[in-house]
Amino acid sequence: MQTAAILGASGYAGQETLDRVLGHPELELVALGSDSLAGRGASALDVRLNGHLPAFLPNEEALAAGADVVFACLGNEEAAALAPPEGAVVVDLSGAHRLKDAALYDEWYGFEHPLPGALSDWSYAVPELAPPASRLVANPGCYATATLLALAPVADLIDRTSVVVDAKSGVSGAGRALKESSHAGAVLENVAPYRVGTHQHSPEIEQALGFAVCFVPHLLPVRRGLLVTCYVNGDGVSERLEETYADAPLVRVLPQGVAPELARVQGTDTAELGVFEDRSTGKTIVVCALDNLGKGAAGQAVQNANLALGLPETAGLRVGGVLV
Ligand SMILES: NC(=O)c1ccc[n+]([C@@H]2O[C@H](COP(=O)([O-])OP(=O)(O)OC[C@H]3O[C@@H](n4cnc5c(N)ncnc54)[C@H](OP(=O)(O)O)[C@@H]3O)[C@@H](O)[C@H]2O)c1
Repeated sequence: MQTAAILGASGYAGQETLDRVLGHPELELVALGSDSLAGRGASALDVRLNGHLPAFLPNEEALAAGADVVFACLGNEEAAALAPPEGAVVVDLSGAHRLKDAALYDEWYGFEHPLPGALSDWSYAVPELAPPASRLVANPGCYATATLLALAPVADLIDRTSVVVDAKSGVSGAGRALKESSHAGAVLENVAPYRVGTHQHSPEIEQALGFAVCFVPHLLPVRRGLLVTCYVNGDGVSERLEETYADAPLVRVLPQGVAPELARVQGTDTAELGVFEDRSTGKTIVVCALDNLGKGAAGQAVQNANLALGLPETAGLRVGGVLV
């Protein structure tokens, strides 16, 4: 058994990661970090968590608890200041270590990175495209994961100057903290774009693809799940994606004519891809659906941790829906 600590366990991503760790056959939870719940029992987060779990510690103490793997589920600025413990695998679910150019943090995240010299120690890993290359892993963003699964394998087949990514996410993508923009009154029976032209996943996508895309996110009135529709000019996309993901346990390229759907990926750590041709314009349309808290966050974090620790890639993950 290898040991795990979670920081920021009371947030949505932290809670979801806790759920994966508790169901993991080869990880034992040794420290549950949460500044807001420090000193309280695990059931303070959820009444289903009983007395067998360690009580909440301040995040600093959970980080120093000596775990083999630390999952950092903190806000971006908090995570940026982390000092990773010697020898441990650390998977950061925030955006704090995804961008190689520290100057981009000021521009896209609104804070100056406190440890710019350490950014090169972190490896950005969508496991199907590039598995973790170091013990410090920058877990990709939810929108970026879906966009890269759809586009990275075909980057050499498409016109790089004209890619449009229309993205939609459920409201849990905004986190647990109360905000006017994710208030039920603003979200229910509504769909609207947000951070148009300024979303922080744009530079992350550009860094990974090597070219910029026009990325527009929208908020959906659902709790979880995310879908990106990518409009590209190019040939051979469907064949390349099928080839790339033929043996991938968590990414499914759907048969021709079948569209990815939130309902099939919600609550799982899988992603679905579908490829279509637009009869009118000849454009190729690649759609990817995943759960923002699953493959878009906790599921991928545990997948990355498994690879970094030498465990089976899908250990502890939710690979299927009810029909599998
Ligand atoms: N939500 C997603 O779909 C998603 C997907 C990919 C990546 N991420 C990234 O993962 C990190 C955590 O995201 P999240 O969605 O879990 O955010 P969140 O729910 O807002 O939680 C973030 C932190 O805020 C604290 N917190 C918990 N409940 C709170 C409340 N009611 N009011 C104020 N603060 C509260 C928690 O820290 P303590 O427990 O220490 O108090 C937690 O670590 C972020 O960097 C985010 O960008 C999120």
